[in-house]
Amino acid sequence: MVKIYPTSGFDVNQLNEKTLVNDVENNTLWDQIADALVDPGYLVLDGAIPQELLTGLLARIKQLEAAGMKPAGVGRGQDFHQDQQVRGDHIHWLSDNNLEERAFLLWMDQLRQGLNQRLFLGLVDYESHFAVYPSGSFYQKHRDAFREDAQENRPRRKISTVLYLNSNWLPINAGELVLYNEAGDCVLEAVAPECGRLVVFMSEKFPHEVRAATQYRRSLAGWIRSR
Ligand code: OGA
Ligand code: MN
Repeated sequence: MVKIYPTSGFDVNQLNEKTLVNDVENNTLWDQIADALVDPGYLVLDGAIPQELLTGLLARIKQLEAAGMKPAGVGRGQDFHQDQQVRGDHIHWLSDNNLEERAFLLWMDQLRQGLNQRLFLGLVDYESHFAVYPSGSFYQKHRDAFREDAQENRPRRKISTVLYLNSNWLPINAGELVLYNEAGDCVLEAVAPECGRLVVFMSEKFPHEVRAATQYRRSLAGWIRSR
């Protein structure tokens, strides 16, 4: 399922909204992602994110690691707490205040608009966090969204994206993202978290887990949301 895609020219230092709006070369990429989201509902892509942006994101996550990131929580509202038996990663939410983060959010916003034009899902925004998994930590099988959330009148996660930032990942390092079928009883893919690999899937449809890795594992997870 892994496909190679040519990267388009994209200079993070030159970045502003205009350069991105003019960056229309991604139409075939949006087509490919949209088609896969219709059937089978997910895809794994290498090389979709421009190299300059990847390099910038890797530098940024290392900077955040040095500053110290927060343990991720589980559960909502009053129920929110930390539980290493559910997930052991440390996270940082992206914002427009940092150049690399803003560049990634803009790239993802282009994807969101491209998918809206093709799939009419009413996608309104994108939220994203860096995640680092210390050696031995994992994220138990879970779903990113539930159909019941549709009842609630707030943005909900429709499409999940995960971008990996680990150079030269080896099979013995494990740490795969395992995607299951909707019933959760059959493995569809076990994806190694290799640098530049992007996984996109329908949030409600695919239970998934992060297997324990034998070394530090870096990812950038996000959700395109609808109303
Ligand atoms: C998540 C998630 C997958 C990964 O953060 O919800 O499933 O491979 N991450 O990091
Ligand atoms: Mn998830």
